[in-house]
Amino acid sequence: MLIRRIKLLKCLGARYSSSHYVTTPIFYVNAAPHIGHLYSAVIADAHCRYQKLRHPASDVRLCTGTDEHGTKIQQAAAIHNVPVDQYCQEISSRYREVFQAAHIQNDDFIRTTEERHKQAVAQFWRTLHGRGHIYSAAYSGWYCVSDEVFLTDSQLRLDEASGTRYSLESGHPVEWTEETNYMFRLSQFQDDVRHWVKQEARIRPAKFEKILLDTLSEPLPDVSVSRPSNRVHWAIPVPGDDTQTVYVWLDALVNYLSSLGYPNEKFLEHWPPAQQVIGKDILKFHGIYWPAFLLAAGLQPPQQLYVHSHWTVDGQKMSKSKHNVVDPVQAAQQYTMEGLRYFLLCEGVAHSDGNYSQVKAQRILNSELADTLGNLLSRACAKSLNPCQVYPQPHAEHLADLLQSVDAAKRLRDSLLQLSERCEAHYECNHFHLVADTTMAALHAANNFFESAKPWELKGGKEGANEPRLATIIAMTMDALRLCGIVLQPIIPQLATRLLDKLSVPASQRGWDCLNENFARRDSSSSSSSNSNSRSHQLDGQSSAMLFQRIVDEKDKTVEQKPQPQQAKRSKSKKERLKTATNATTATTTTS
Ligand code: MSP
Repeated sequence: MLIRRIKLLKCLGARYSSSHYVTTPIFYVNAAPHIGHLYSAVIADAHCRYQKLRHPASDVRLCTGTDEHGTKIQQAAAIHNVPVDQYCQEISSRYREVFQAAHIQNDDFIRTTEERHKQAVAQFWRTLHGRGHIYSAAYSGWYCVSDEVFLTDSQLRLDEASGTRYSLESGHPVEWTEETNYMFRLSQFQDDVRHWVKQEARIRPAKFEKILLDTLSEPLPDVSVSRPSNRVHWAIPVPGDDTQTVYVWLDALVNYLSSLGYPNEKFLEHWPPAQQVIGKDILKFHGIYWPAFLLAAGLQPPQQLYVHSHWTVDGQKMSKSKHNVVDPVQAAQQYTMEGLRYFLLCEGVAHSDGNYSQVKAQRILNSELADTLGNLLSRACAKSLNPCQVYPQPHAEHLADLLQSVDAAKRLRDSLLQLSERCEAHYECNHFHLVADTTMAALHAANNFFESAKPWELKGGKEGANEPRLATIIAMTMDALRLCGIVLQPIIPQLATRLLDKLSVPASQRGWDCLNENFARRDSSSSSSSNSNSRSHQLDGQSSAMLFQRIVDEKDKTVEQKPQPQQAKRSKSKKERLKTATNATTATTTTS
């Protein structure tokens, strides 16, 4: 218990001030959004939604946006034969639309081509220059156009046959470049950056801290922070020198400040960021350059970098050339956007790459959202069992008896007693997959209880003699659904809302504190009417009890539409996360 508490506090780090500023990377507009991009955004969104739910007093702010300068973007616009500003506008809008469809609750969407951002970059540059951290120098080195970065010999691979050198990290070709650049004195910040990286819970998961410390064990070279305007003209001019433009990564990183209104001092109300969510490919920029730039400008670096790994598709890296890029809009047509959010957050783990496959997504969503969650709601709300359509209150003597005599009732109570503390610990560390595991375990326990208690055998007893027991079983089941609905709000906000709406849970009773109000925490000696919150109330007749329709392949459609047997065969997974309760629903949705 104590160890778990200490671990939790370590995860939390210094995250207890009232401002809680969270960012996603800003997305390149050289191509349309894919599920990898959406992944960065849903992690940040679920983190912020949890923060608001658990710490309602904290001032949460989420910023996302698009990264629109540089050669890459220039080239993409040229390939599409569209003026570059129009091209940026079109792709940026697609990101905005996808994020809206996925219910990302961002407070700002920043574009690096906006005037407010250009002003911020110019001021940030002047500050670095004014403090003596930027100097002019003749620079030569291997330059990778695709990655917009100079690389050292140790970061390259030579292809003997062609004589071409490639970036070891990205695999893109490099070319020898000689030019006059402005340089940033990165070398002077080596110790400060190392000190920052080493702080408790600074870089999460911990494996990425190790990667940064390995890089920092070698001397850091100074870094070029400008490009000749004649080579990279689609960029922000260096203040006072039109022959140079600001290096796109310096430009892009400043978005986190410009969104807050920097250089207006009001930005300090939210500074530094509580958490910056990034993919593993941009670790060096956020874990070394960014803290160094900030320290050089006299600003605090972020409190935490949360680094996630990548999605592969059927085991392969996603790429246009492999024609395997997964479009979130298309995926959502198959699984719904809530289904896609659930899959990304609950199947992905930050420390290693996740594999996206349609088969897997379909199996998990059917098993967890349709069969385990949705089906239990349908059963508890079925008119045959619940003709008055109520969320009943448990009757004290039947509750005590069920807990005494039905093992599955005890298991359900134990599971619900642990739900809040466990899920809190997992959410605090962004371990969404463990939140899902814990919630699904509680729902399995609820399904098992429902099966064991056999409420259908209590229907129509003499003069309603069985009604109190039947009501108690339904009340216990609905408590489990309500608690899981509250917990799942940050992950599947729309589905959780529909579930809580159906159960007529008032908006004021959907907070984290309300997890304590349930049959499992009830003093067995208390009378059934002692708690006014627990009075029977009407279900919402306007809301459907059908939460998530099973997804069915076209080829399986005829088979799936037949009535399901009582004990439908369940899919299994290696993590045993797909163990489901009984009775698949017969409702289906079809994928092409
Ligand atoms: N523009 C830069 C970031 C600048 S932040 C100051 C950039 N853009 S990106 O569009 O290429 O990537 C944005 C985010 O998407 C990164 O966090 C990246 O890791 C993430 N992903 C890109 N491909 C991905 C997968 N295949 N899987 C998961 N996330 C991936 O980098």
